[in-house]
Parts: sequence; C-alpha cells; structure tokens
Amino acid sequence: MLERMSAEPVNTESPQTIAARAGLELNIGVGQPIQPAIHQSTVYTYPSLEALESAMTFEQPGFVYYRNGHPNAAVLEETLAALEYAPSCAVAASGMAAISSVFMALLGAGDHLIADSNVYGGTFALLAVDLPQMGIEVSLVDAQDHAAVAAAFKPNTKLLHLESLSNPTLRVADLPVLIALGKAHNVRVSVDNTFASPALMNPMQHGADVVVHSLAKYIGGHGAVMGGAVIGPRDVVEAARGKLLRLGGTMAAFDAWLALMGLKTLPLRMRAHSSNALQVARFLYAHPKIARVDHPSLASHPQHDLAARLYPHGTGGMMALELHGGFDAASSFVKALSGKIPLAPSLADVSSTISYPARTSHRALTPQARALIGVTDGLLRLSVGIEDADDLERDLTAALSELA
Ligand SMILES: Cc1ncc(COP(=O)(O)O)c(C=O)c1O
Repeated sequence: MLERMSAEPVNTESPQTIAARAGLELNIGVGQPIQPAIHQSTVYTYPSLEALESAMTFEQPGFVYYRNGHPNAAVLEETLAALEYAPSCAVAASGMAAISSVFMALLGAGDHLIADSNVYGGTFALLAVDLPQMGIEVSLVDAQDHAAVAAAFKPNTKLLHLESLSNPTLRVADLPVLIALGKAHNVRVSVDNTFASPALMNPMQHGADVVVHSLAKYIGGHGAVMGGAVIGPRDVVEAARGKLLRLGGTMAAFDAWLALMGLKTLPLRMRAHSSNALQVARFLYAHPKIARVDHPSLASHPQHDLAARLYPHGTGGMMALELHGGFDAASSFVKALSGKIPLAPSLADVSSTISYPARTSHRALTPQARALIGVTDGLLRLSVGIEDADDLERDLTAALSELA
C-alpha cells in the first residue's frame, strides 16, 4: 500500500500545496509492473544543475522534455530498430510526420527525388505540393518499370522513395533491383514498409538506406494508435529526429505504449492476416460478381513469383478488388457488408475493414492520376483481419448475394 493512501493526514501543508505536488514522490515499492509504465510527463525533474547538464549533453542517460523524447518512445524505438535489423529508430507523431522528416532531412532546395507513382495518396500530396514549395524537384515513375526508373536519375537526384507493397493496388517493389539501381547512381533509397510490416519484409536487409512506417497500421494493429517511425543508420535517423524535434512531430507517450503492446503480437497477427487474405482472395477471385482482385499471393497477380521470392512468410492482409458493375456495385457491396466488415478509411486492424480509395486515401489525386495507377471509381480496398476465414467468406458470400 502506498503511504499517501493512509487514513491519517501525512503532513500539515495546505490543500493547495498538496494538490499542486501530487505524485511528485510516488514510489511504487519493490514489485515492478510487467508492462512499462506510461510516462505521461511534460518534463523531468533533476536534483541539481549539474545533473541536468549531464543529461542535456548526453553524458548521462536522462529525459528532459517530452517533445525531445520520452521513455515510451525510447523503448518502442529500440524494439522497432531490432525488428527491422537496423541500428537506430526515431518514432514520430504519424506516418506522414516520419516520411516528411526523412524527405526534409535528406533533401534540400535544388535536389531531386524519384518516387513510385503508386505511393500512398498522402505521400503523393506531400510530393506534389510541399516538396516543390521547398525547391525540391520530384519525378513520379512507375517502379515496376525499371527502365523508366533508371532513366529518371539526374545529377541532382538524392533519394529514391518506394513502398514495399503499394497502397492500394498491392504492387510489389522489386527491392533488390531498385535498391541496386539507387546504389549504382549513388542515391539513397527509402522504403515505406507499412503494408508489409517488419514481420514480412525487412528492406534494410536488401540494402535500403532508410525505412519508414505508419504505426497506425499493422504495428499498432488494433485501430487505436497514431504514430510513425524512421528506421535506419544512426546519421540518417538522427537527421530525421532533428527535423521532428524542431518541427514538433513527437509521438505521444500513450500512443507509443499502445504501439509497443500491439507489436508484441505482430508476427503472429501477420501470419493470420496473410493466410486469411489468401483464402479470401482466392474466394473472391473465383466469384462471378468480382471482376478483379489484386493480392500478391494470388497466383493471378502479375508479380506473384516476385512476391513468393521476396515474401516467403506471406504478403499480409491487404487486397484491392473491383466488382462487375463499377461504382454502383461497389457502393451496394459496402452497404451490404456493413455490420460485419465496416467501411473504414484505414487498414490493418485485427478486424476486417473495407475502404474506398478514390474518395479517401487517394482523394488528393486527379481522376487522370488515379486512373494511371488503377484506382478506379469501382475499386475497393479490403483489409482482411484475423477473424476465422470461413466466417469472413460467409459474410462476403451473403453481401455478394444481395447484389443484383
Ligand atoms: C503506405 C502508407 N504510408 C504512410 C501512411 C501515412 O501514415 P499516417 O496516417 O500514420 O500518417 C499511410 C496511411 O494510410 C499508408 O497507407
């Protein structure tokens, strides 16, 4: 029992003082919680100026101010770096904060970046709007077309940005080939590994220079987290962390704690997501009302062999699909599924969700730009969860049977 819980008054200070100093002397005793505490504190106290100075100069370990880092971020960073076989990690307020910090750390006015034209719509908007405002030149190239990527390098190219599995159409980046192209041109390669997660793909093991994640997806895994991560060699990570600290992109302590809880089951969940998605993709592919299914583990996927080679443990729970009947059929299907597989413009939760990329993740693109990357008006993105796959098939069958 804690001393403060005693029935007797413990001191003679006024209520105002007691209230203002509540918690300053908390000592939880010998027993330690099995889970790390949530360090929800804006600032850390020090016994002396010398002690504070030693923490400020990194002579002694010690946190000082929330925006500059906190224990929940630190333990998450250590775990994520280990999961990606990388020396270092900086977590961020969101996936977009992480991606922005990498671009800002590695690029300046006059530099050129090449990115896959199939990147997530939020990244596309950053490339189309914000980087040009900073004087950074951007070329969007279909990363499946290796000759086009090779032709896009210029003397001022500093970065090639890819998604290991693209959102939403699940193109598989041939990382060994694309990273070799970057190296041949002395250009760093950054890989957004959100869709694959470190349980299925480790881009640094293929030679990537930096990896980014949205932690709101598979790593958090339960639809409760907002966060991002930059993972790679110390110099790149510290340059990105500097941007995050100065621009205020710190990850919240509770979100970092939730992400850590989520990633404890990441490899197990990814196995379940992958096997469920394959069963569901096969079922949908064979269904007469379905016109198209994009899932890399499906034998019909144009990059199936590459996916099998690069992803021996599966390709996760994401797929894109189109029904015969375009937008109207998609709209009816979403309504018919609701209650079982809800419309939710995110992904990678333990429960299955469906989303409509043309009006959510890829809203920032013109209809022409969407058409170029296969985000049609009838396209749906299904995030297959870890429910029983037979139950999912039953729910999908019932919803499809309601369509004309
Ligand atoms: C592949 C990918 N990268 C990055 C992001 C951005 O992450 P966040 O929403 O955490 O900023 C998303 C979000 O959907 C995504 O799908």
